[in-house]
Amino acid sequence: MKLWGGRFTKETDKLVNNFNASISFDQKFFRQDIRGSIAHAKMLGASGIITQQESDEIVQGLEGILRDIEEGRLVINDEYEDIHTFMEATLIERIGDAGKKLHTGRSRNDQVALDMRLYTRDEVMNVDGELKELMAVILRIMKDNTETYMPGFTHLQKAQPVTVAHHFGAYFEMFCRDRSRLSDIYNRMNYCPLGAGALAGTTYPLDREMTASLLGFNGPTLNSMDSVSDRDYLIEFLSALSTIMMHLSRFSEEICIWNSNEYRFIELDDAYSTGSSIMPQKKNPDIAELVRGKTGRVYGALVSILTTMKGIPLAYNKDMQEDKELTFDAIDTVKGCISLFKGMIDTMKFNTARMEDSAKKGFTNATDAADYLVKKGVPFRDAHGIIGQLVLMCIDRGISLDELPLSDYKSVCPEFEDDVYDAISLKTCVEKRLTLGAPGPEIMAKVIKIYEEYMNKN
Ligand code: ARG
Repeated sequence: MKLWGGRFTKETDKLVNNFNASISFDQKFFRQDIRGSIAHAKMLGASGIITQQESDEIVQGLEGILRDIEEGRLVINDEYEDIHTFMEATLIERIGDAGKKLHTGRSRNDQVALDMRLYTRDEVMNVDGELKELMAVILRIMKDNTETYMPGFTHLQKAQPVTVAHHFGAYFEMFCRDRSRLSDIYNRMNYCPLGAGALAGTTYPLDREMTASLLGFNGPTLNSMDSVSDRDYLIEFLSALSTIMMHLSRFSEEICIWNSNEYRFIELDDAYSTGSSIMPQKKNPDIAELVRGKTGRVYGALVSILTTMKGIPLAYNKDMQEDKELTFDAIDTVKGCISLFKGMIDTMKFNTARMEDSAKKGFTNATDAADYLVKKGVPFRDAHGIIGQLVLMCIDRGISLDELPLSDYKSVCPEFEDDVYDAISLKTCVEKRLTLGAPGPEIMAKVIKIYEEYMNKN
């Protein structure tokens, strides 16, 4: 069922109808469609384009439709072309002639531009809320683990000792940037396209400021052709969602590594792991793997819309209908991933003894041993060479630098004294790293305080 039969003499081919229709997916924003129509009807009444009574009838009719859909009394009929058509037809069916005036000074082109913007704007806030909850869990883990030692890696090789708080703090930073990107997008997209008409505005004296303000926008958009054909905000949003997924995917990869039999740094909660149908011993990190896997799907949405938009001449073209399914899917995917990821890390346990033991092995204190010599006056480059020789000696004997006798230290460099053992202990290595942003618990406490203030303010 359609709104535009007048100039046609033949029925549309059934396959064309199916190919063209969007109601199977654009019904997702029925609330936004009604909200936009209510604002439009109020403005038409206030501007004297329709009577106040007609405006009131339309608003009440639309409110009734909203209630009935939400309470299950009205089912969206997918024989209509799209949600806009369904709403208008249902309104006319319910209130008669006044309903036929709703579409005055409006086109589905500015209507869909508005609906999608309203829908996305809400979802930007929802994703932001999910991220904030995830960050609260990360911060809790940080506070509990300022002295939980673990190896820090570069090239996936043990490098220097860090703490769990420090490692998780890196992700706090990433998600903090993600939230700030969402806030930028929100501010940039928050302008109202309603009143652009099909592409060239309208001759009715629409009050675009009024609809913009009724719908919570900063103001109306300033070019009607751009208003109906701009999908930049979706591209930006999908790009921000892709970056969130990239961060979650890296984190997931670490969870998989830490959960492996070789590492055993963490133990995932039974509620967040799965088993194997054949191997009884298995406890797999499927949630982390799925989050990592679904990243591709969100990137796909971004590339898809970039490609769809690149060849579209001004103004509206039907290609743009393709913006919806992939955006909806990406949003739902990201929200689901953040929420599950949050539950997974909130319930997992750290195998602290194993992490500490691992940090002790692998010469993560070699830099500190070189720094010890520097403090005794040896130039850093020479100290680097000396410690390199000692590491080789330890590797030969299968021991760590902490276990090497002082006589061996002295045989390579007479500057070594008994205090070397304290200088290269794991505790010293971490505690003395006190530059801002480093893992030393004293400086970490300051950063955690900054993060707490951020969580209270944002
Ligand atoms: N279903 C369309 C979309 O999603 C709505 C706009 C239709 N406009 C038109 N002139 N056919 O883009």
